[in-house]
Parts: sequence; C-alpha cells; structure tokens
Amino acid sequence: MRLALYRLILGALAGLSFVSGLRNVTLDDNDPAIVYSLGWNVSHGNNSLDFGGSLHFSDNATASASLTFRGVAVYLIAPFWSSSVGAQVAIDAQRPFVIDLEDHGVPAAPGLGKETLLSQVVWAATGLPDTEHTIVISLPPA
Ligand SMILES: *[C@@H]1O[C@H](CO)[C@@H](O)[C@H](O)[C@H]1NC(C)=O
Ligand SMILES: *[C@@H]1O[C@H](CO)[C@@H](O)[C@H](O)[C@H]1NC(C)=O
Ligand SMILES: *[C@@H]1O[C@H](CO)[C@@H](O)[C@H](O)[C@H]1NC(C)=O
Ligand SMILES: *[C@@H]1O[C@H](CO)[C@@H](O)[C@H](O)[C@H]1NC(C)=O
Repeated sequence: MRLALYRLILGALAGLSFVSGLRNVTLDDNDPAIVYSLGWNVSHGNNSLDFGGSLHFSDNATASASLTFRGVAVYLIAPFWSSSVGAQVAIDAQRPFVIDLEDHGVPAAPGLGKETLLSQVVWAATGLPDTEHTIVISLPPA
C-alpha cells in the first residue's frame, strides 16, 4: 500500500473578481457566469474559510472552469490547504501560471487534508486592455 498524494485543484474557485470600468465585480464560485466542464465537485458549504461558504474542486486532470469578462484586471480567490492542492490559470490562451495552494506553514497531510487559511487573492492579472478576456482554470500538471 502506498499513500496517494492528490493534486486537487482548485478549489481555487472560491471566487473571482474582475475590474470592469471602475467597478470591482466579485463572483462567487457558483456564479452562472463561470462555465465548468464535467469533473468538478462542489463542497458542502458553510465553511467560513471559503469565499461565499463553498468552493469547487476537482481531481480530474482534464476538468476546467472558464470565465469571459470585459475589464482591466482579474483576481482569483482561494483558501490554502494542509495538503498538495494547486491550480493552473491561463488568460487569453497565454502560457498558464501554476499556483501552489498548499499551506507550507502547517504539517503536510496525506490525501485531501483540510483548508487552513482564509480565502484570499492568490493570483491576479492587472493592467489588461479594456477588452473582453477569457481565463481558464484547471489542474496543475502532475
Ligand atoms: C478588486 O478586488 C480584489 C479582491 O477581490 C482586490 O484585491 C483588488 O485590489 C480590487 N481592485 C480594485 C481596483 O479595487
Ligand atoms: C473529467 O473531465 C472530463 C472533461 O471535463 C470529462 O469529460 C470526464 O467525464 C471527467 N471524468 C470524471 C470521472 O468526472
Ligand atoms: C466527486 O464527486 C463524485 C461524483 O459525485 C464522487 O464519486 C467523488 O468521490 C467526489 N470526489 C471527491 C474528492 O469528493
Ligand atoms: C452554518 O454554520 C453555522 C455555525 O456552525 C450555523 O449556525 C448555521 O446554521 C449553518 N448554516 C447552514 C446553512 O448550514
């Protein structure tokens, strides 16, 4: 028997904010503007560490979530875990950026571990041209 280390994504989707004009719009992960592929799970909710109480997560290497918005900045909101959790985010089909969502300040837990830190901005793209943009969130490479 051996321990399986999950590469779980993302719950990253506890929320997303984008700046449109002078307005900062924050979407919870269950906002219908966010389009999810198959292969996502939604947490039970009511976790005060999650923006809006719940989050989307997946261990499916081909699952993705996308949002198309018009604006000049976008922020990804997620908590951190006591285990190996991450996310990969790409904007406008550019090279993806890998985000480590493991809380290295606590002992590493096998499997899924648990959330340890309050949802916060974990990635941002700012200074974008004020046009339509698409971000795609997926699992980091294994
Ligand atoms: C928009 O919201 C994010 C967090 O949701 C924050 O980090 C950022 O500073 C805000 N930007 C502006 C221009 O208010
Ligand atoms: C994994 O994700 C792909 C693409 O979204 C989907 O077609 C497939 O059914 C998913 N597999 C599982 C086990 O959810
Ligand atoms: C995600 O949901 C599927 C289908 O409901 C379930 O079989 C699977 O165990 C769930 N995965 C996790 C990590 O909770
Ligand atoms: C969420 O948790 C709080 C505190 O444990 C509880 O009072 C409340 O009823 C819960 N709400 C839901 C919708 O489960």
